[in-house]
Parts: sequence; structure tokens; C-alpha cells
Amino acid sequence: MPIIDQLQITSFRNLAEINIAPSGGVNLIYGGNGSGKTSILEALHVLSSGKSFRSALVDPLIKDGDSVATVYASTSQGVKFGLSKSRNKRSQLRLNGKNEGNWEQVARALPALVIDSGAFSLLEGGPKARRRFLDWGAFHVEPTFLDNWRRAAKCLANRNRLLKRGFLMNEELRAWDVELSIASDLIDRARAAYFKKLLPLFEKTYSKFVGVHSDLKLEYKRGWPAKHQLEDLLMTNRELDAKYGSTQVGPHRSDIDVRVGNRKASESLSRGQEKLLVCALKIAQGELLSGVVNRRCLYLVDDLPAELDSSNRQRVMKCLLTLGSQLFLTSVEPKALAISEFGDTEIARFHVERGTIVS
Ligand SMILES: Nc1ncnc2c1ncn2[C@@H]1O[C@H](COP(=O)(O)OP(=O)(O)OP(=O)(O)O)[C@@H](O)[C@H]1O
Ligand SMILES: [Mg+2]
Repeated sequence: MPIIDQLQITSFRNLAEINIAPSGGVNLIYGGNGSGKTSILEALHVLSSGKSFRSALVDPLIKDGDSVATVYASTSQGVKFGLSKSRNKRSQLRLNGKNEGNWEQVARALPALVIDSGAFSLLEGGPKARRRFLDWGAFHVEPTFLDNWRRAAKCLANRNRLLKRGFLMNEELRAWDVELSIASDLIDRARAAYFKKLLPLFEKTYSKFVGVHSDLKLEYKRGWPAKHQLEDLLMTNRELDAKYGSTQVGPHRSDIDVRVGNRKASESLSRGQEKLLVCALKIAQGELLSGVVNRRCLYLVDDLPAELDSSNRQRVMKCLLTLGSQLFLTSVEPKALAISEFGDTEIARFHVERGTIVS
């Protein structure tokens, strides 16, 4: 279980230099608006996955006027993670003092889940966010998932390139269709298996928040119609795909359908209810990860009090604490989470002002 016991952040957003020794339990980061709370969570997320949860660009992450942002963390088991992001240069990632070419090993060693205002995109946004959610889990519990995912992405890119030629290159397309179908079936199997395990854990947690909600239905969609082989569909759809210049069915079209009765959840639930649903999904992911691969993830929870009434805040906090994961929570108001009510949990408090820790 990764427990970060040392965290250093330099020149990241408005954080000039942060050096803290987090607790293995709850880390409450509090301070006024614009003080740098979310930036601390963001730095941890960038370290664990290479990506920010609020910007696709590198430049905004680096402190204005500086040229390199760095994040360094070490765990209680002695694993060391280091990252530097420079303007106009490739990121440098280090694991235990050695350069790492990609994020695979780091992401496996430091799984992190975010609950923030962007988490609503899981219900309100397009399928991409829900595929990412599914793939985060499939990546962590099914060791071959990433290879199959990369294989399918390569096939799709090549197939789409041929489809844009303006005339059908049937022989070449066939080779990619076969390969894409094989990889897609493996991806579908991993996603479906993950979703099947996740669903009861989600339902258990969600019912703790809202009671039994018989109208709510979550369904995994694989990206091509049931009872059809993807290979057959790719062959029969070639002309249509050529018209659009891209492959219309496949694992890149999979989704999770979230409905309340006949309506989409996002058209039916209040913001607070949506947040509870997303929290239950993320808590289920953490629970599944520790159950299946015996690894706990870091939770990066930005402004939990927003949108939740005090009893729901307490319910979410209780479930998060039951996971036994290391939590990094932010709040404008330090008392809003009433953490001290949670018995013997180890708590560290960090007060941030203008990009520095003041106490
Ligand atoms: N590249 C950058 N260089 C310097 N400052 C930046 C950079 N990017 C963002 N900032 C500033 O960093 C500050 C901290 O932002 P952050 O989102 O972490 O605040 P916060 O404490 O989470 O605030 P809130 O309570 O409003 O959510 C903001 O004032 C923002 O304008
Ligand atoms: Mg914030």
C-alpha cells in the first residue's frame, strides 16, 4: 500500500516550494480561495499519472516566471517518485532514482483517484470520461489490459488512415480488422469483468448514502451491438466508415449507461445526488482495487463539502475512512469536514496561504 510520507513540490502553479510529511490517514489541506490547495492535489495526480485533472497543457502547471516544475514523493516502503515538467521539453520521470520512459510502472505503484468538481463529467459529459473511469480499473486489475488497449489503438489509427484514402483498400483493411477484433474482444472482456465486480460494491456504498435506489441502473455498453462479431461488423460497415473517415463501432465507443428510470442520471439527479453517485463509484473502485490486487489507492478529494449537506459529508467521509486509504482532502473551511469526530484516524492539517504552508 503506497503511503506517501514525504512530499516536495516546487514551482508548480502558485506553489513556490512545499515540503510536507503527510500522515498515512487523513491530510486536510485548508486555506482561502486561490491559496494553492487544489494545486497540491493536482501535483500529486500529475506525479501518479502524468496528467493533470484540470489542464491538458504543461505550461499552466509551471509557476509563472519559472521554467521547471518538480514533484517528488517517497513512500513509507522506501519507493521514490520524481517528476520534472519543463516548458518546451519532455517530462522527466524517475522511479527509485532511475529514469522511466513511460507512466506504466509509476501508475501501478501509485494509484490515485480524484473526486473534484470535474467528477461531474462522469455523468454529465460524453462517454470518454466513463471509458477512462472503466479503463483505470481494468488497467489496475488486469495486467494485460494496457497491451491490448495499445494494440487496439494502433489498429484503429491505421484503419482510419486507410479509410481516409477515398477508395477502399480491402486487403489492407482486412488485416487491421482481424487484429482490431482480437484486441477488442480482450478489452471488452476485461472491461465487462471489471464492471461486473464493481457494480455490487457501488450499490452497497450508494445505498449507504441514499437508501435503496431501485430506479437507478448502470449498464456497461461494449461499443458494438450484442450478438454481433466485431470483425463481421467492420467488414459490412466499410463503406459507411469510409464515408465518415473513421471506424464507427469498436471499443473506442464503449460507455456506461447511467439511468434513473427512463432518463439519463444527469437529467434526473440534483448536483448533490450526482456528487454522491460519483463518490460511491470512486469508493467502489478503491475497494475493488484493495480486494483484487491488495493495493490501496490515494484519494485526492477536492472541496468535499461543496454541494453536500453535513450528514452526507459525514457519510462520504465515513466510507472513505473505512477504506483505510491515504486521503488528501481540501477545504476552504477546516471545520466543515468535522474530521475530529472520526475516532482514532491519524490526521495531519496543512494550512496553505499564497502558495506556502503556514502551519
Ligand atoms: N502557472 C501558474 N503560476 C502561478 N500561479 C498560478 C499558475 N496557475 C495558477 N495559478 C494561481 O494559483 C493559485 C492557486 O490555485 P488553486 O486552484 O490551487 O487554489 P485553491 O486554493 O484550490 O482555491 P479555491 O479555494 O478557490 O479552489 C490561483 O490564485 C491561481 O491563479
Ligand atoms: Mg481549489
